[in-house]
Amino acid sequence: MSKIIGIDLGTTYSAIAQLDDLGTPEVLASTDNNKKITASSVYIKDQNVIVGDKALDALETVPKQVITETKRQMENDVVYSVDEGKWVDKDEKNKDYYSPAQISSFILSKLKGYASDVKKAVITVPALFAEKARVATLDAAKMAGIEVISLINEPTAAACYYASLPNVKKITGKILVFDLGGGTFDVTVCEVQGEEVEVITSRGDKWLGGKDFDKELINLINEKYKKLSGKELDIENNYSKYMEVAEQVKRVLSVRDKQIETIDGPDGAKEIEITRVEFEQSIQTHIEKLKMLMEEALDGSGLKAENISHTLLVGGSTRIPIITKTIEQVMKKPPLKGVNVDEAVAAGAAIYAGLKSKKNLNEAQKKAISNVKLQDVCNFYLGTLVQEDDPVLNRQVTANLILIDRDTPLPATKSSRLVTLYDDQESISIDITQSEGRERNREFVNIIHQGELKFPDKKPKGRPIDVTYTYDTSGKLHCIFEDEATKEKYEVSIRPESAEDLRRNYEAIEHIVIE
Ligand SMILES: Nc1ncnc2c1ncn2[C@@H]1O[C@H](COP(=O)(O)OP(=O)(O)OP(=O)(O)O)[C@@H](O)[C@H]1O
Ligand SMILES: [Mg+2]
Repeated sequence: MSKIIGIDLGTTYSAIAQLDDLGTPEVLASTDNNKKITASSVYIKDQNVIVGDKALDALETVPKQVITETKRQMENDVVYSVDEGKWVDKDEKNKDYYSPAQISSFILSKLKGYASDVKKAVITVPALFAEKARVATLDAAKMAGIEVISLINEPTAAACYYASLPNVKKITGKILVFDLGGGTFDVTVCEVQGEEVEVITSRGDKWLGGKDFDKELINLINEKYKKLSGKELDIENNYSKYMEVAEQVKRVLSVRDKQIETIDGPDGAKEIEITRVEFEQSIQTHIEKLKMLMEEALDGSGLKAENISHTLLVGGSTRIPIITKTIEQVMKKPPLKGVNVDEAVAAGAAIYAGLKSKKNLNEAQKKAISNVKLQDVCNFYLGTLVQEDDPVLNRQVTANLILIDRDTPLPATKSSRLVTLYDDQESISIDITQSEGRERNREFVNIIHQGELKFPDKKPKGRPIDVTYTYDTSGKLHCIFEDEATKEKYEVSIRPESAEDLRRNYEAIEHIVIE
């Protein structure tokens, strides 16, 4: 029987969990080194692909061939060129390239190997992951031979795991999930009653995580090196090496007040002392951003810090003392500690996989998760561009019409009626939009799909077109634009039927072995 699997595909580390025979999620250890988290690093070595810690080790010697932080590229039209050792614009002429989805598929293939018979899984994504990045994640799974039961937002998965823990029944009421990983920050407010989790709202930043702290530390180390020797470090050409040093120093500073590190540079090796206070000052702007987003999440849920019973920690960067201090400041009480911040997301995804595939569960598993219920929300505004008369400008302007509001409980279906603006109009162009704010201005929205609805006959202006958007619990968006008179439809499901060219390219490199 196919296993009940959840996968946390992280920016820096990934994990795979499975429901055991008693219905308890178990994070699986790597077949390489028995660790439960696997570095999301990919080393393209001749005909082979090496994923995990071994790839991370190769970063210093062959940096161009090792790809890291792929998740941050999932929404971009870029490809990784092993030749150039960087992400470049997608260019048809460039044959030696790998899309972000492909690289992620290598990581998923590696994780899949920690269990036998993995065919289906729930995969987690940041709450504020754009539609394009979600589609790229689904593409990655497809390439890795995994059927995605559903995507689930990372903080939602973590909340689901926390709520299901037998010894934390005291977690009830409104909770705040603070998820700070290697690349992204998500803060989610939920209501938990027993094992029922209802998401209220999420805020976040996809460019705020441990990697950004490492970069600040490199700058700090560089300043100190320059003070001692008068020369600057060549960061550009030794980026991976210094990032590794910075991460190491950062980890030490989570438990000690200072660290003395030998730094190699143009003036030879120097001993450099970095204190925790200096590190904390260097990441101050990021801390301010974290505070602001927590406050926005509270505002968005109509709650005050006093109304939140617990703050739950998720993600490796929550081990940094200034982070927990900041949470305590904003939330007016310390966060709850004691659960594995690295494993909660994957474990929650496995529970959700169980909920979504009940017919595959044994009796004990069914019983274990029988009380778990989950209600997620839409994390964006979804709309369409329309033409409308602007009485001030006295001409037509393009505006964004929102159909599904942010924080609408899922599944959600909303409809609206549009009308044509001209007599004998032959078609309407369709632009499906996604935005984080309630935007009217087209400049501030992402167009996630474009199409056209043609009319088979001519009619005077004012011809009605019914638009219906449905957003399901797995984050799949289905849109229908229907001409009321002829029932002619333009229908689109925003799903991974894209990326044809990438799949072709993937087939061309099928001989690659996942070591
Ligand atoms: N003891 C520690 N002190 C400081 N930072 C730490 C510590 N342990 C781990 N980290 C940092 O946590 C980050 C990894 O966390 P995690 O595995 O939760 O992220 P991820 O899932 O890869 O990223 P994301 O969720 O953003 O996609 C790294 O930046 C790592 O340096
Ligand atoms: Mg994570």
